Amino acid sequence: MVMSAEGLRTRCAREMSQSPRGFAGCSWLRQAFLDVPREAFVPDRVWWPARTGDGRYPLIDRSVKPRAWLKAVYQPGAALITQIDDGAVLPTGPADGVFTSSISSPGVVIELLRHLAPEPGERILEIGTGTGYTTALLSHRAGDAGVVTVEIDSRLAARAEDRLRAAGVNPRVIMGDGEEGHAGGGPYDRIVSTASVRRIPRAWLRQLKPGGVLVTPLDSPFGYDLLVRLIGDGHGAAAGAAVAQVEFMRVRGQRPRRPYADLGWPSGLEATQWRDLQVAAGQEDQRIAAVADGASPRRGWAGELVGW
Ligand SMILES: C[S@@+](CC[C@H](N)C(=O)[O-])C[C@H]1O[C@@H](n2cnc3c(N)ncnc32)[C@H](O)[C@@H]1O
Repeated sequence: MVMSAEGLRTRCAREMSQSPRGFAGCSWLRQAFLDVPREAFVPDRVWWPARTGDGRYPLIDRSVKPRAWLKAVYQPGAALITQIDDGAVLPTGPADGVFTSSISSPGVVIELLRHLAPEPGERILEIGTGTGYTTALLSHRAGDAGVVTVEIDSRLAARAEDRLRAAGVNPRVIMGDGEEGHAGGGPYDRIVSTASVRRIPRAWLRQLKPGGVLVTPLDSPFGYDLLVRLIGDGHGAAAGAAVAQVEFMRVRGQRPRRPYADLGWPSGLEATQWRDLQVAAGQEDQRIAAVADGASPRRGWAGELVGW
């Protein structure tokens, strides 16, 4: 039987309802996922993020294999790659290179938004618009008026804005460096980044309301990113904890490696300690520390999830 987009979306939602890292009983999020047509945000040609025998990432072309394309759109754990090498590689066939934009997997988008926990009417800043899909879910929950999304790549920003408008969603789409945030729309109740950082940008901390929530992937010495959830103090600082293991593309300005000691990481951490990590970030520095087992105020979900 050939399943419609709606049928595949419902099946994907069902699978994510059964996973501890899925909706976890969050009904507004499940409804937003069911209401927003993910396929409307996916380009017709995307790369599948696993190499085939020739060592390259295969292209899925909607016009050639519409069923395979649609099934890929609704794989809970699959991000689809929409840009390689900052757009230097055209989507004309299998390719190799560095992933620089994607539509994040349904599972990781849900996890990000569950930890963000936006409320209707809030001011929300998203960094890394990508296709605009996460932006559409945010707008569905909070309403267009308070949502600002920033994308550094002008072509991606323009396409995302077109898709959002076509879907009847009207958040502010800003082309710019998201590490600067967007002071004009703040201060924000929530800030979420869909690109990872090594150092939490100072502008985000300044633009967060007192008690505001910041959710971002943070590079770790463990070989993957940690999703961190921090609460702002309204004076340019925020503190919180690691809540999940994820994997994201880096914000453009933070691609070069830096010594972890310079980024506030203590030495000698074991990878198994990630659930006990607390993070404090301010205008001067950021600090990561492991609290004694069992003393962590917020524990994450077990298991790694690839996000991009
Ligand atoms: C994983 S993708 C975003 C996926 C998006 N949430 C979606 O589902 O379509 C990360 C995006 O962050 C963007 N990006 C990287 N550095 C940035 C920066 N400094 N400011 C704004 N966007 C940035 C990339 O161009 C890319 O589109």
